[in-house]
Amino acid sequence: MSLGAHTFSFPIWVEFGNGKSDRVGELIDTKGWKTALIITDQGIRKAGILDIIETSIDDENITYDIYDNVKPNPTESMVSDALGVLESGDHDVVVAVGGGSVIDTAKCATLLKTNDLPLSEYEVNTPADVTAGTIEFQTHPLITIPTTAGTGSEVDYWAVITAEERQFKMAIGQPPLSPGGPYLGADISLVDPELTASLPPRQTAATGFDAFSHALENHVAAGAPELVKPYTRHVMGLVSTYLSDAYTTGNMQSREQLLFGSHMAGFCENYAGFGAIHSLAEVTGGMYPEIPHGEAIAVFTPPVMRYNLETHPARYAEVAEAVGVTTSGLSDLEAARRGVEAVETLIDSVDLPTSLEELGVDNGDLERIASKSLETIEIHDNPREADAADLLEITNSAY
Ligand SMILES: [Fe+2]
Repeated sequence: MSLGAHTFSFPIWVEFGNGKSDRVGELIDTKGWKTALIITDQGIRKAGILDIIETSIDDENITYDIYDNVKPNPTESMVSDALGVLESGDHDVVVAVGGGSVIDTAKCATLLKTNDLPLSEYEVNTPADVTAGTIEFQTHPLITIPTTAGTGSEVDYWAVITAEERQFKMAIGQPPLSPGGPYLGADISLVDPELTASLPPRQTAATGFDAFSHALENHVAAGAPELVKPYTRHVMGLVSTYLSDAYTTGNMQSREQLLFGSHMAGFCENYAGFGAIHSLAEVTGGMYPEIPHGEAIAVFTPPVMRYNLETHPARYAEVAEAVGVTTSGLSDLEAARRGVEAVETLIDSVDLPTSLEELGVDNGDLERIASKSLETIEIHDNPREADAADLLEITNSAY
């Protein structure tokens, strides 16, 4: 089998390991930056995580301001607020400390600091949008320090921001399209498992399952390069092995494995696409901002797997194997179906919701969820084609 041809470009400096976030001040100094804006949320501040970052920056005599008003499922107005603070001072670098919401807000603020169009002009809805080169100038310097395991946003080229008046989660982003070309993302990423220690069980479950879904969708996506598949397989195995323990006991070794997995999945996101799980979950989250992303993901995962495996049983048999199903002697289709059951067991083991009804979604909104999903970038990479009727069937079975 041919592995195909792909171009891999990775311009982000990454350091992974316990205590790595202590290095932030030293790295800022090494780059010659003198002033910083820390973007975070109030939960991170209350958890004491920011103290580690502030101490490290103080030690190098770097001056800094803090913007700590990011909320879950960030909106265009939150990006504008953060940008306002960034533009009001002389900040050489932005340091994003938080989960996906914080990092995505920071990414978009650094984008708009150096590029002039309104945020919605950088929205990607089709594969052609991704390669259009709309981001003209390299974004303002950014260091990402994730506190969840997680979105992988610390190391990918994408951000998700809600356009409030459209009730729609915009995918914003661009990979480097030429050597040294501009991209949306970090210059440096410090990935420190110790920062995930205080994450409460419910968020541990939701963000960890989100990481699983990234690996899953990247693995089966239409056009996913073979080169990412050893990584996606490994991440699915890591999350299915360690998520339940991290959720139940908060064990640090399990948290470390999860963060490694979410980080690796974020890397894979840059080279493979998502699919109907993310498409439907993002549309639902745009309409219901109170629903955590990972919980919507958990609800849509089994029905989308069941829909896709009918036309791509071999890919889903690989998923089954990755999550520990003994597949010898089974047909691909049978193995694929057992894989869905194993994923459902994983979801149950961490008490994630299993229906849209449980999430508080109104039955009358299902048709809109299905039809709006066709406007997302993610649906283009779903391995099996899906029209509005197919997506409605999936959405109904998720209810
Ligand atoms: Fe996700």
